[in-house]
Amino acid sequence: MTAIAKDDHILRVEGLQKIFNQHLAEPVEAVQDVSFQVRSNELTVLLGPSGCGKSTVLRVIAGLELPSSGKIIHGDQVVNGPARSRGMVFQSYTSFEWLTVAKNIEYGMKLHAVEPVIRKERVEHYLELVGLADFRNAYPKQLSGGMKQRVAIARTLANEPELLLMDEPFGALDAETRWNMQELLISLAQSTQTTIILVTHDLSEALFLGDRIIFFSKRPATIISDMPVAFKNKKRFARKEDILSEAKYKDAEQELMRLMRSQSNI
Ligand SMILES: Nc1ncnc2c1ncn2[C@@H]1O[C@H](COP(=O)(O)OP(=O)(O)OP(=O)(O)O)[C@@H](O)[C@H]1O
Ligand SMILES: [Mg+2]
Repeated sequence: MTAIAKDDHILRVEGLQKIFNQHLAEPVEAVQDVSFQVRSNELTVLLGPSGCGKSTVLRVIAGLELPSSGKIIHGDQVVNGPARSRGMVFQSYTSFEWLTVAKNIEYGMKLHAVEPVIRKERVEHYLELVGLADFRNAYPKQLSGGMKQRVAIARTLANEPELLLMDEPFGALDAETRWNMQELLISLAQSTQTTIILVTHDLSEALFLGDRIIFFSKRPATIISDMPVAFKNKKRFARKEDILSEAKYKDAEQELMRLMRSQSNI
């Protein structure tokens, strides 16, 4: 571990390059040269065309993949593997089918030897936060897709990570459940003050959730735009319809659409 001087950024991605199958006949360069910093409590959205390298950037930040060159610095540590301080929520449902909702939420804390009294408190707290208190004894197969994803979010938040990494967490949900979950995420971001990096393809999701949007080129990913969502004036909207009626919303969506089309492979 290398100690790095602190500044107000809790995460620094420096000159990240990722090449898969580097020593095989057909190496795949997924990420070319990506650098950005994230401030505490910021909600950063990673956007870009399909296959451009978004999940790879997130997985390297999580420590699930190692960079080919460059580095990730979280707090004052160089990331060289997964850690409890970085929680990940995936697109597919990742709950344990044989455990109840409450036991799923408790699982990670048990692994990390969190004391039973604290585990119990946190299970109750996060069940309430995601609106699943009445389903504590249900099994995942008895839940809808949105509810399963709420279990995954509660389970990850229960470890109280400093950084919450989300890879298209609402991608498999129907439209109504999706905007409900987006609103839930905004309220969780406010109440837990967790720093969040979220990958999506969905332009309206990016504008609603993001304090800032980083837009990647087609593969290999490089940053072609990194900007705050200016028309939100550093505010977060609690309800989706309130952002849709903002005068500058359409312009911002069109700009993202233009970027997306310029990088599309299709
Ligand atoms: N483990 C791996 N081994 C080899 N190639 C990989 C691996 N993981 C990803 N890739 C390749 O890296 C490139 C980027 O993949 P990645 O999953 O990061 O894209 P993405 O932007 O998340 O795509 P999508 O929007 O479809 O989820 C792709 O060409 C993919 O085939
Ligand atoms: Mg992906």
